[in-house]
Amino acid sequence: MRAAYVTAPSADDPVNAIEVGDLDVPEVPGGWCRVDVHAGALNMHDIWMLRGVAAAPGGGPSVIGSDGAGVCDGREVLIYPVLPAAGGSKAVPHSVLLSDRGHGLLAEQAVVPAAGVVPKPAHLTWEEAASLPTAWLTAYRMLFTKARVQAGQTVLVQGAGGGVSTAVIALAKAAGASVLVTSRSEAKRERAVEAGADAALPTGERVPELVDVVIESVGPATFEHSAMSARAGGTIVVCGASTGFTASLNLARLFAREITIHGSTMGTPEEFAELAAFVGRHRIRPVIDSTVELGDVRTAAGRMLAGDAFGKLCVAVR
Ligand SMILES: NC(=O)c1ccc[n+]([C@@H]2O[C@H](COP(=O)([O-])OP(=O)(O)OC[C@H]3O[C@@H](n4cnc5c(N)ncnc54)[C@H](OP(=O)(O)O)[C@@H]3O)[C@@H](O)[C@H]2O)c1
Repeated sequence: MRAAYVTAPSADDPVNAIEVGDLDVPEVPGGWCRVDVHAGALNMHDIWMLRGVAAAPGGGPSVIGSDGAGVCDGREVLIYPVLPAAGGSKAVPHSVLLSDRGHGLLAEQAVVPAAGVVPKPAHLTWEEAASLPTAWLTAYRMLFTKARVQAGQTVLVQGAGGGVSTAVIALAKAAGASVLVTSRSEAKRERAVEAGADAALPTGERVPELVDVVIESVGPATFEHSAMSARAGGTIVVCGASTGFTASLNLARLFAREITIHGSTMGTPEEFAELAAFVGRHRIRPVIDSTVELGDVRTAAGRMLAGDAFGKLCVAVR
C-alpha cells in the first residue's frame, strides 16, 4: 500500500523527513478493523513526530497522520484518532494518538480499533470528514465538556488559522455563542469573520467586553491577554502552547475575578460520537485550507510549518 511515513526524524528539517512509498499492509489484530482510507489531514502533532519529539517510531518506517476517514466493512466512517488507554500512565487515557504507536492514517489502508469508528456525517466530502478527528474533537471537548459553553455567551479564540481555532468558531456559533477571534494577520482576521466569527481583533488588542470563555492554544504569546480578557467567573481552556510551554499569569487577577483555568486534551470516544452527530445535525462544513495528493504531502507539511494555512491541510489518499 502507498503511505506517507517517517523512518529518520529530523529536528531541523521535518518536512523532508517525510517519505512516500509502498509499505506492507498491516495485520488486523482481534477487535481491530481495516479501513480503506479515502482522505486524511495533517496536524501540528505530525510535525512533532517528524521532528522525533512526539513519537517513538521504533526503528522501522512509521506512518504519519492521525486524521482519517474511509470505508470499513462497507461503512463510510470517521476514525477516532486515539488509542485505548494504557494503564498506569500519568496522562489522561485519551492522550495517545494512533500515529504515536505505529498506526498512522496517511496510507491507503489503516488498521484501527473497531470500537473507534463512527459513521461519517453524510453531507461531508471525504476531505471534510477527515478534518474532524483531531482538531475538531479537541475543540468540542474544550467548548462543551470543559467550558460548558451556552447560547448567548461570548467565546474568545486566540489565533485564527489553525485547525482548532477554525473548529471552535464553527462549533461555538452552531451552539448559539458569539465568537471573537484574534490574529496577527489582517487576511486571517477577514477569513475568520467569513468563517462565522462575529469579530476579529489584532493579537493583543483589548476586547470590547470581557468574555465568558477563552480558548487558548497559542501559549505565552497570548496567555496574558487571555487572562485579561476573561470576565469575573469566566473560564480559560488551554489545549496547546504553540509559542512555548511557560507563560506568566497575574495571580491577583486570577483570584480576584475567580477565573477557572482548564487543561484539555483530545476527547473521549463518547465525545467523538457526539461531535460527529453535532456536525451532522447542524450541517457544519469544516474549513479546508487546501488538499494535496498523497505524493505531495510535503507541500502540505511545509504550509503547516510556515503557519500560512487557514483551516485544515487535507490529503486525498484515493
Ligand atoms: N491538546 C490537544 O489535544 C491538542 C489537539 C490539537 C492541537 N493541539 C495544539 O493546539 C495548538 C493549535 O493547533 P492547530 O493545529 O489548530 O494550529 P496551529 O497551526 O498550530 O495554529 C497556531 C495558531 O497560533 C497562532 N500563533 C502562532 N504563533 C503565534 C505568535 N507568536 N503570536 C500569536 N499567535 C501565534 C496563529 O495565529 P495567527 O497566525 O492567526 O496569529 C495560529 O492560529 C498547537 O499547539 C497544537 O499542538 C492540542
